[in-house]
Amino acid sequence: MTRHDTPPSLRRRLLTILIVPMVLAWLGSGAMIYALALYYANMNYDRSLVEGALMIERMARSEAGHEELSPQARILIEYDSDSPTYYAVRSLHHGMLASNLDLPLPAPLPPPGASPQLESIVLHGRKMRMASLAVTQDDPADTVVISMAESLDQRHELAREILIGTSPVVLLLIIVVLVLVWFGVSRGLRLLDPLTQQIAQRRARDLSALDQSQVPVEIRPLTRTIDALFARLRELLELQERFIADAAHQLRTPLAGLRLQAERALADPRPESVRDALAHVERLSAGAGRAAGQLLALARAQTVDEQDDATSAVDLARLARAYAGERVPDALAARIDLGYEGPSEGLVVNGDTVMLREALVNLVDNALNYAGRNGTVTVSLHRDERTVELAVEDSGPGVPEEFWPRLGERFFRPPGSRREGSGLGLAIVRRIAERHRATVTYDRGRDGRGLRVVLRLPALVAENQERGNRDSGPRS
Ligand SMILES: Nc1ncnc2c1ncn2[C@@H]1O[C@H](COP(=O)(O)OP(=O)(O)O)[C@@H](O)[C@H]1O
Ligand SMILES: [Mg+2]
Repeated sequence: MTRHDTPPSLRRRLLTILIVPMVLAWLGSGAMIYALALYYANMNYDRSLVEGALMIERMARSEAGHEELSPQARILIEYDSDSPTYYAVRSLHHGMLASNLDLPLPAPLPPPGASPQLESIVLHGRKMRMASLAVTQDDPADTVVISMAESLDQRHELAREILIGTSPVVLLLIIVVLVLVWFGVSRGLRLLDPLTQQIAQRRARDLSALDQSQVPVEIRPLTRTIDALFARLRELLELQERFIADAAHQLRTPLAGLRLQAERALADPRPESVRDALAHVERLSAGAGRAAGQLLALARAQTVDEQDDATSAVDLARLARAYAGERVPDALAARIDLGYEGPSEGLVVNGDTVMLREALVNLVDNALNYAGRNGTVTVSLHRDERTVELAVEDSGPGVPEEFWPRLGERFFRPPGSRREGSGLGLAIVRRIAERHRATVTYDRGRDGRGLRVVLRLPALVAENQERGNRDSGPRS
């Protein structure tokens, strides 16, 4: 099994996060228990050491005069089932009186009659605790020092026993906590059940926002993301619905016209009226074809998902100049002077060539459509600090200023639009501009005549300076 096969698990994640600190806590609590137990063991054992020293002192007093401890007293002192206790009774003048080990003199010497004094010593490499006291006996000039000592083994032994007794309990507690976490996760995740149900019970078309009141706060970032996705889907669906309705409407009108003309021709089989009907049929079907093409272009331009835009550096100067050149024959046929003003290449923007060309097609179509006989159409391009400005203007009647804000609405045609059209061209231009982070503005053309449409796009790099003016403008 590779890592990719097992899905991530909250439970496993939580346990792995918890297990190391838990083990550390266990070890830490062990160390603390041991230290505490040792502290209390020391207190107890020290106390009995002091009592031992006092007992020797009492016995020594009762045996006073004899230089030695009686055998009974020795047995009493030395007898210890667990660990040996050592003692030493020493006169400062006469030396050692009785001992079972050569214990060192306490430092400093305790004053005679004071309560026993405790200290830690090292004897023959072993650490020990020693309780000592000093007494004056028959000879007031002499001091007898009584010491009692034992090794630390028993204290450590006791602390170890306490540790061994308690650490399984602590371990058990830790295991209980981990088990609780294991089950707690399942219980906690039940909080998500209402959300799951909410989503499961939705109808496919229901893209309204989720009811966040039921959602645990930790999950809200996720549900908000889902809501944002829903919103985008909703937008896309609405767009598609409107588009389908528009398309149907757009095609129904010419289809009805076609049918009417066919009926006319059938009803009146005279060649001239059939001919007339066929001319209408030709015009209607051309219009329907154009409308279908524009609907497709609009559909392409309004795809919602903008992340997958295939953008690249597009030389707008080259594109615009070449396109203006292509349309010269159409312009000539309509007796229109079509020209291009701007550099022949080197005005680069970031964008989609096909779409930018589509925008140009629609603008030049309109200009040629409305410029009128003997009019002029100028495609121009120039560069500012940060923008590239593409303008198409004509010398036709233009559009009254009050309608400028509505140009670019789908199917909007100012009242009295005389030429054939669907009102989609400028909508396509607007969508393409949006996708290129460009703006579309309307203005009057030269001498206050005609319409000037300006597309302002962010420039990519200044590769070449503007060179030449109207260098490719074959005038008709
Ligand atoms: N250059 C222009 N001169 C005059 N009117 C124009 C021009 N361009 C567009 N219009 C007006 O704007 C309307 C919408 O244009 P457009 O969206 O291209 O649709 P269509 O050309 O199919 O009618 C046109 O019907 C026309 O009335
Ligand atoms: Mg048009």
